[in-house]
Amino acid sequence: MDSSLQDDDDGADMRSASTTIVVCDDGPLLVRGPIDLCRSDGSPIPVRRSTVALCRCGRSSITPMCDGSHKLGRSTTRSSGAAR
Ligand code: FES
Repeated sequence: MDSSLQDDDDGADMRSASTTIVVCDDGPLLVRGPIDLCRSDGSPIPVRRSTVALCRCGRSSITPMCDGSHKLGRSTTRSSGAAR
């Protein structure tokens, strides 16, 4: 047996254990693969999916996850200054 293809202690194939982070333009960080996600105090945040979207804009109501609110914060129209 090729030792480079051995399973880890949990029986998972080590070849599929890599993690990729995709930086979305004007959007979240898409994290694909196994991660340990924690708050600043070290408490764990449950990760239930193989891909998670982490908010970068600060508008999400479910931080640290993205809820799509980054799309609402961008306006293609300019304020007329009429509302005061
Ligand atoms: S990046 Fe999507 S809500 Fe912040």
